[in-house]
Amino acid sequence: MQILQPKTQDFGDEPLKVRDTEHYQKEYVQTFVEKWDELIDWDARAESEGQFFVDTLKAREKSKILDVATGTGFHSVQLLKAGFEVTSADGNAEMLSKAFDNARSRNLILNTVHADWRWLNKDVHGKYDAIVCLGNSFTHLFYERDRRRALAEFYAALKYDGVLIIDQRNYDSILDEGFSSKHTYYYCGDQVTASPEHVDESLARFQYAFPDGSKFHLNMFPLRKDYMRGLLFDVGFQRIKTYGDFQETYQESNPDFFIHVAEKNYHDD
Ligand SMILES: C[S@@+](CC[C@H](N)C(=O)[O-])C[C@H]1O[C@@H](n2cnc3c(N)ncnc32)[C@H](O)[C@@H]1O
Repeated sequence: MQILQPKTQDFGDEPLKVRDTEHYQKEYVQTFVEKWDELIDWDARAESEGQFFVDTLKAREKSKILDVATGTGFHSVQLLKAGFEVTSADGNAEMLSKAFDNARSRNLILNTVHADWRWLNKDVHGKYDAIVCLGNSFTHLFYERDRRRALAEFYAALKYDGVLIIDQRNYDSILDEGFSSKHTYYYCGDQVTASPEHVDESLARFQYAFPDGSKFHLNMFPLRKDYMRGLLFDVGFQRIKTYGDFQETYQESNPDFFIHVAEKNYHDD
Protein backbone atom coordinates (compact mmCIF):
# COMPACT_ATOMS: atom_id res chain seq x y z
CA MET A 1 0.00 0.00 0.00
CA GLN A 2 1.37 3.43 -0.97
CA ILE A 3 1.46 5.89 1.94
CA LEU A 4 0.62 9.46 0.89
CA GLN A 5 3.57 11.63 1.84
CA PRO A 6 3.24 15.25 2.96
CA LYS A 7 5.46 17.75 1.05
CA THR A 8 6.69 19.76 4.03
CA GLN A 9 7.94 18.73 7.45
CA ASP A 10 5.45 18.89 10.29
CA PHE A 11 6.61 18.88 13.91
CA GLY A 12 3.46 20.59 15.23
CA ASP A 13 3.46 23.39 17.82
CA GLU A 14 5.84 21.74 20.25
CA PRO A 15 8.66 20.16 18.22
CA LEU A 16 10.61 19.15 21.33
CA LYS A 17 7.74 16.92 22.36
CA VAL A 18 7.94 14.90 19.13
CA ARG A 19 9.63 11.67 20.28
CA ASP A 20 7.99 9.05 18.17
CA THR A 21 9.28 6.17 16.02
CA GLU A 22 6.62 6.68 13.38
CA HIS A 23 7.54 10.33 12.87
CA TYR A 24 10.32 9.56 10.36
CA GLN A 25 7.60 9.44 7.72
CA LYS A 26 6.80 13.10 8.39
CA GLU A 27 10.47 14.08 8.41
CA TYR A 28 11.62 12.55 5.10
CA VAL A 29 9.17 14.60 3.03
CA GLN A 30 9.71 15.20 -0.68
CA THR A 31 11.34 18.63 -0.23
CA PHE A 32 13.91 17.25 2.25
CA VAL A 33 14.51 14.07 0.24
CA GLU A 34 15.30 16.25 -2.79
CA LYS A 35 17.97 18.00 -0.69
CA TRP A 36 19.44 14.89 0.94
CA ASP A 37 22.20 14.36 -1.61
CA GLU A 38 23.36 17.95 -1.18
CA LEU A 39 23.73 17.11 2.51
CA ILE A 40 25.66 13.89 2.13
CA ASP A 41 27.62 14.66 -1.10
CA TRP A 42 28.15 11.25 -2.71
CA ASP A 43 31.67 11.88 -3.99
CA ALA A 44 33.03 13.31 -0.74
CA ARG A 45 31.32 10.58 1.27
CA ALA A 46 32.69 7.83 -0.96
CA GLU A 47 36.17 9.25 -0.48
CA SER A 48 35.87 9.54 3.31
CA GLU A 49 34.47 6.00 3.76
CA GLY A 50 36.89 4.46 1.30
CA GLN A 51 36.53 0.70 0.98
CA PHE A 52 35.50 0.12 4.60
CA PHE A 53 32.14 -1.56 3.95
CA VAL A 54 33.27 -3.42 0.83
CA ASP A 55 36.37 -4.73 2.63
CA THR A 56 34.44 -5.70 5.77
CA LEU A 57 31.91 -7.68 3.72
CA LYS A 58 34.47 -9.26 1.39
CA ALA A 59 36.71 -10.30 4.30
CA ARG A 60 33.76 -12.36 5.58
CA GLU A 61 32.90 -13.67 2.09
CA LYS A 62 29.47 -12.05 2.11
CA SER A 63 27.72 -11.50 -1.20
CA LYS A 64 23.94 -11.21 -0.70
CA ILE A 65 23.31 -7.90 1.05
CA LEU A 66 20.18 -6.22 2.37
CA ASP A 67 20.42 -2.44 2.77
CA VAL A 68 17.60 -1.71 5.24
CA ALA A 69 18.08 2.06 5.34
CA THR A 70 18.54 2.74 1.66
CA GLY A 71 17.71 6.45 1.85
CA THR A 72 18.68 7.98 -1.50
CA GLY A 73 20.69 4.88 -2.36
CA PHE A 74 24.30 5.81 -1.63
CA HIS A 75 25.41 2.51 -0.06
CA SER A 76 23.21 0.32 -2.27
CA VAL A 77 24.86 1.87 -5.31
CA GLN A 78 28.40 1.56 -3.89
CA LEU A 79 27.79 -2.11 -3.08
CA LEU A 80 26.21 -2.88 -6.46
CA LYS A 81 29.18 -1.26 -8.17
CA ALA A 82 31.49 -3.42 -6.06
CA GLY A 83 29.73 -6.55 -7.36
CA PHE A 84 27.47 -7.46 -4.44
CA GLU A 85 23.91 -8.70 -4.90
CA VAL A 86 21.87 -5.97 -3.18
CA THR A 87 18.27 -5.60 -2.06
CA SER A 88 17.38 -2.04 -1.09
CA ALA A 89 14.72 -1.55 1.57
CA ASP A 90 13.42 1.55 3.34
CA GLY A 91 10.22 2.46 5.15
CA ASN A 92 9.90 5.76 3.34
CA ALA A 93 8.52 5.68 -0.21
CA GLU A 94 9.97 9.09 -1.18
CA MET A 95 13.44 7.90 -0.25
CA LEU A 96 13.09 4.67 -2.20
CA SER A 97 11.86 6.44 -5.29
CA LYS A 98 14.78 8.89 -5.14
CA ALA A 99 17.19 5.96 -4.65
CA PHE A 100 15.77 4.20 -7.70
CA ASP A 101 16.24 7.35 -9.82
CA ASN A 102 19.77 7.89 -8.47
CA ALA A 103 20.73 4.34 -9.39
CA ARG A 104 19.12 4.53 -12.81
CA SER A 105 21.06 7.69 -13.62
CA ARG A 106 24.18 5.57 -12.96
CA ASN A 107 22.90 2.77 -15.23
CA LEU A 108 21.98 0.53 -12.30
CA ILE A 109 18.62 -0.97 -11.40
CA LEU A 110 17.83 -1.15 -7.69
CA ASN A 111 15.82 -4.03 -6.36
CA THR A 112 13.68 -2.01 -3.93
CA VAL A 113 11.36 -3.14 -1.13
CA HIS A 114 9.16 -0.79 0.86
CA ALA A 115 9.52 -2.15 4.40
CA ASP A 116 9.50 -0.86 7.95
CA TRP A 117 12.17 -2.52 10.14
CA ARG A 118 9.66 -3.35 12.85
CA TRP A 119 7.97 -5.88 10.57
CA LEU A 120 10.74 -6.30 8.02
CA ASN A 121 10.20 -10.01 7.37
CA LYS A 122 6.60 -9.42 6.33
CA ASP A 123 7.89 -7.67 3.18
CA VAL A 124 11.47 -8.88 2.75
CA HIS A 125 11.79 -12.57 1.97
CA GLY A 126 14.78 -14.89 1.96
CA LYS A 127 17.91 -14.89 4.09
CA TYR A 128 20.84 -12.55 3.63
CA ASP A 129 24.58 -12.84 4.20
CA ALA A 130 24.68 -9.33 5.58
CA ILE A 131 22.46 -6.40 6.48
CA VAL A 132 23.64 -2.81 6.43
CA CYS A 133 21.76 -0.14 8.37
CA LEU A 134 23.85 2.97 7.78
CA GLY A 135 23.81 6.75 7.95
CA ASN A 136 22.75 7.04 11.60
CA SER A 137 19.36 5.58 10.76
CA PHE A 138 18.61 3.37 13.78
CA THR A 139 18.41 6.58 15.84
CA HIS A 140 14.89 7.07 14.44
CA LEU A 141 13.49 4.43 16.80
CA PHE A 142 12.27 6.17 19.94
CA TYR A 143 11.00 3.22 21.97
CA GLU A 144 13.15 0.41 23.28
CA ARG A 145 10.55 -2.12 22.21
CA ASP A 146 10.93 -0.87 18.61
CA ARG A 147 14.72 -1.16 18.79
CA ARG A 148 14.52 -4.71 20.12
CA ARG A 149 11.88 -5.64 17.60
CA ALA A 150 13.80 -4.16 14.64
CA LEU A 151 17.04 -5.90 15.68
CA ALA A 152 15.18 -9.19 16.07
CA GLU A 153 13.80 -8.75 12.54
CA PHE A 154 17.31 -8.03 11.22
CA TYR A 155 18.66 -11.07 13.06
CA ALA A 156 15.93 -13.28 11.57
CA ALA A 157 16.60 -12.04 8.03
CA LEU A 158 20.26 -13.09 8.28
CA LYS A 159 21.70 -16.50 7.47
CA TYR A 160 23.08 -18.52 10.39
CA ASP A 161 26.48 -16.84 9.99
CA GLY A 162 25.18 -13.44 8.91
CA VAL A 163 26.60 -10.02 9.76
CA LEU A 164 24.85 -6.78 10.63
CA ILE A 165 26.71 -3.52 10.06
CA ILE A 166 24.93 -0.72 11.87
CA ASP A 167 26.17 2.76 12.67
CA GLN A 168 25.30 5.73 14.83
CA ARG A 169 26.45 9.16 15.81
CA ASN A 170 28.71 9.43 18.82
CA TYR A 171 25.87 10.58 21.06
CA ASP A 172 27.89 9.89 24.23
CA SER A 173 30.19 12.72 23.33
CA ILE A 174 27.31 15.02 22.34
CA LEU A 175 25.45 14.30 25.60
CA ASP A 176 28.48 14.43 27.88
CA GLU A 177 30.72 17.00 26.26
CA GLY A 178 28.65 18.94 23.77
CA PHE A 179 28.50 18.81 19.99
CA SER A 180 31.50 19.12 17.73
CA SER A 181 32.02 17.72 14.25
CA LYS A 182 34.99 17.13 11.99
CA HIS A 183 32.53 17.45 9.11
CA THR A 184 34.42 14.67 7.36
CA TYR A 185 32.06 11.71 7.51
CA TYR A 186 28.45 11.04 6.53
CA TYR A 187 27.22 14.60 6.05
CA CYS A 188 29.93 15.69 3.69
CA GLY A 189 28.23 18.49 1.76
CA ASP A 190 30.38 21.53 2.47
CA GLN A 191 27.57 24.05 1.94
CA VAL A 192 25.22 22.45 4.47
CA THR A 193 25.34 22.71 8.24
CA ALA A 194 24.02 19.96 10.48
CA SER A 195 23.83 21.12 14.09
CA PRO A 196 21.87 20.13 17.19
CA GLU A 197 19.10 22.49 18.28
CA HIS A 198 18.25 20.56 21.40
CA VAL A 199 19.79 17.56 23.14
CA ASP A 200 18.63 15.62 26.19
CA GLU A 201 18.76 11.92 27.13
CA SER A 202 15.78 11.07 24.93
CA LEU A 203 15.94 13.61 22.11
CA ALA A 204 18.57 14.96 19.76
CA ARG A 205 16.90 17.47 17.46
CA PHE A 206 19.19 18.43 14.57
CA GLN A 207 18.76 21.25 12.13
CA TYR A 208 20.02 20.99 8.53
CA ALA A 209 20.52 24.40 6.94
CA PHE A 210 21.06 24.69 3.17
CA PRO A 211 22.64 27.51 1.18
CA ASP A 212 19.29 28.49 -0.39
CA GLY A 213 18.04 29.35 3.12
CA SER A 214 15.89 26.24 3.51
CA LYS A 215 15.97 24.45 6.85
CA PHE A 216 14.88 20.97 7.84
CA HIS A 217 14.93 19.04 11.09
CA LEU A 218 15.28 15.48 12.33
CA ASN A 219 14.19 14.41 15.79
CA MET A 220 16.31 11.46 16.86
CA PHE A 221 16.90 9.26 19.87
CA PRO A 222 20.46 9.73 21.21
CA LEU A 223 21.72 6.15 21.37
CA ARG A 224 24.61 5.63 23.71
CA LYS A 225 27.29 3.34 22.31
CA ASP A 226 27.33 0.72 25.07
CA TYR A 227 23.54 0.66 25.22
CA MET A 228 23.49 -0.08 21.49
CA ARG A 229 26.11 -2.81 21.86
CA GLY A 230 24.05 -4.31 24.71
CA LEU A 231 20.95 -4.45 22.51
CA LEU A 232 22.95 -6.23 19.80
CA PHE A 233 24.24 -8.81 22.27
CA ASP A 234 20.76 -9.25 23.77
CA VAL A 235 19.21 -10.09 20.41
CA GLY A 236 21.78 -12.84 19.90
CA PHE A 237 24.80 -11.43 18.04
CA GLN A 238 27.88 -13.17 19.40
CA ARG A 239 30.67 -10.84 18.46
CA ILE A 240 30.49 -7.09 18.06
CA LYS A 241 33.36 -4.92 16.96
CA THR A 242 32.81 -1.18 17.17
CA TYR A 243 34.86 1.15 14.98
CA GLY A 244 35.18 4.91 15.50
CA ASP A 245 35.10 6.90 12.27
CA PHE A 246 36.17 3.68 10.48
CA GLN A 247 39.23 3.19 12.72
CA GLU A 248 39.82 0.24 15.04
CA THR A 249 41.42 2.31 17.76
CA TYR A 250 40.17 5.67 18.97
CA GLN A 251 39.56 7.73 22.07
CA GLU A 252 35.91 7.41 23.06
CA SER A 253 35.03 11.07 22.67
CA ASN A 254 36.89 11.56 19.40
CA PRO A 255 34.87 9.91 16.62
CA ASP A 256 31.83 11.58 15.14
CA PHE A 257 30.34 8.18 14.27
CA PHE A 258 30.54 4.60 15.52
CA ILE A 259 30.16 1.61 13.22
CA HIS A 260 29.22 -1.72 14.83
CA VAL A 261 30.00 -4.95 12.99
CA ALA A 262 27.82 -7.57 14.68
CA GLU A 263 28.26 -11.24 13.81
CA LYS A 264 25.98 -14.20 14.49
CA ASN A 265 28.88 -16.64 14.41
CA TYR A 266 31.23 -17.55 17.21
CA HIS A 267 34.87 -16.92 16.35
CA ASP A 268 37.93 -18.65 17.73
CA ASP A 269 40.53 -15.92 17.89
C1 LIG B 1 19.31 9.28 8.15
S1 LIG B 1 18.53 8.49 6.75
C2 LIG B 1 19.92 7.61 6.12
C3 LIG B 1 19.79 7.24 4.68
C4 LIG B 1 21.01 6.59 4.07
N1 LIG B 1 21.32 5.31 4.69
C5 LIG B 1 22.22 7.49 4.13
O1 LIG B 1 23.19 7.15 4.83
O2 LIG B 1 22.24 8.53 3.47
C6 LIG B 1 17.54 7.29 7.59
C7 LIG B 1 16.73 6.38 6.69
O3 LIG B 1 16.14 5.37 7.51
C8 LIG B 1 14.79 5.20 7.12
N2 LIG B 1 14.00 4.75 8.29
C9 LIG B 1 13.85 5.37 9.48
N3 LIG B 1 13.08 4.65 10.31
C10 LIG B 1 12.72 3.54 9.62
C11 LIG B 1 11.93 2.39 9.94
N4 LIG B 1 11.31 2.26 11.12
N5 LIG B 1 11.80 1.43 9.00
C12 LIG B 1 12.40 1.54 7.78
N6 LIG B 1 13.16 2.61 7.43
C13 LIG B 1 13.32 3.59 8.34
C14 LIG B 1 14.34 6.56 6.63
O4 LIG B 1 13.22 6.49 5.80
C15 LIG B 1 15.60 7.07 5.95
O5 LIG B 1 15.63 6.75 4.59
